[in-house]
Amino acid sequence: MMRHLLVLATMLGASALFLLGWSHSTQKANSQPETMPLVPMMQQLLTDMQQADRGLYTENYDMIKEAGGNISNHPTMTPEDKQLVKSTLGDEMKQFVEYDMIVHHHADSMRIAAIQENMQKVLQHYAIVQRGCVDCHTAFRTPISSARQDSKQSK
Ligand code: HEC
Repeated sequence: MMRHLLVLATMLGASALFLLGWSHSTQKANSQPETMPLVPMMQQLLTDMQQADRGLYTENYDMIKEAGGNISNHPTMTPEDKQLVKSTLGDEMKQFVEYDMIVHHHADSMRIAAIQENMQKVLQHYAIVQRGCVDCHTAFRTPISSARQDSKQSK
């Protein structure tokens, strides 16, 4: 029984680490992992997607490369927001992390496809990133937004 609990705790810890930006901080080992509140971070992601979009239609691979890099290295949530998301989602946190991983992974693949100047591949990964954004919103945006409103009111 204890052993199972230990395994479970380790697994939970590992998924929490991902959201903390562990994967990025190891990638860019010299820089501090940045944190940002969730809403401005999302607005930045929108700007990045718009840049990728513009790059797609004007065949500007540099723009796509930069946008893909910015999306896959996006700052992580502030500790307060992380706590809000965790306590709102409970067990569904796993799915939330999953969507986040899809976005990170395919934004990076989009960046690599842009370096290769392969528009078909860029488009494939762009579509998967876009679906990751929208899937997470469909599943979680309303509850998290409401929880944020509630926490403001109670202050
Ligand atoms: C893992 C989940 C998740 C992923 C992936 C995700 N989002 Fe979000 N997004 C959210 C949540 C949750 C909110 C609502 C935050 C709130 O209102 O507190 C949100 C809100 C937004 C908003 C509205 C911000 C505002 O002004 O209220 C935009 C724009 C946005 N996301 C863009 C994006 C884009 C673009 C991507 C993909 C590149 C993306 N998001 C990926 C969870 C996600």
